[in-house]
Amino acid sequence: MSTQTEINKAIVQYLQSVGYREDKIITELENETLKLGSVSQMQIAKEQGQFLEMITKISNAKNCLEIGRFTGMSTLFLARGIPESGKIVTVDNSDEFLSLAKKYWELDNMSSKIESIIGDGVEVMQSMIDRQQSYDLIFIDADKNNYPNYYELSLSLLVSNGIIIIDNMLWHGDVADETKQDSQTKTIRDLNLKIQNDTRVEFSLLPLSDGLSFIRKK
Ligand SMILES: C[S@@+](CC[C@H](N)C(=O)[O-])C[C@H]1O[C@@H](n2cnc3c(N)ncnc32)[C@H](O)[C@@H]1O
Repeated sequence: MSTQTEINKAIVQYLQSVGYREDKIITELENETLKLGSVSQMQIAKEQGQFLEMITKISNAKNCLEIGRFTGMSTLFLARGIPESGKIVTVDNSDEFLSLAKKYWELDNMSSKIESIIGDGVEVMQSMIDRQQSYDLIFIDADKNNYPNYYELSLSLLVSNGIIIIDNMLWHGDVADETKQDSQTKTIRDLNLKIQNDTRVEFSLLPLSDGLSFIRKK
């Protein structure tokens, strides 16, 4: 059996330098987000974004939904992966960083594919279900305590064979540490177990950055 390589600092640095192809617009967006201070930690890792773009292309996703936009890096990668006729709807309960996100969507000529909604993730998803909308791919990266709700709502919104990708599913490694019993850690730990046992889906838990759960609805 092949063993999982332990990901130490040197390997993280290697992944960041060799596992990712540099991109001018993404670097500028990252640098401008870094200037915001500690909130910049919310941004996805570029190598995760690169993966999101490729998965979107491979799966031929046309209609995507994102919960948790922040300064729009994940939105931008997803938008790059869908065709000109495709659309990504991105939901965030704050408009604080929307103009910054829009600046980079515009610079990358992706604005026409992106619709931004300001609202609560659960409420917006529920209203989409009420209007019988559906999506090919849903990316979840918002408040962790609502992750189980986002997961269930996503299963209702996805077409068959649709994909859910959820960020932070290793939660800085805390999910593997049973001494960590705070509500966010417990929620993510429980959701990982739920997905493992959920016969409605197939999945892979990927140790890319803070962990991506990659899920296919049967
Ligand atoms: C981790 S950040 C998203 C990072 C983003 N995907 C990126 O690539 O930069 C989480 C975002 O979720 C938003 N958020 C928190 N609670 C929310 C809720 N209940 N509904 C919608 N968005 C929420 C926050 O405002 C924040 O912008």
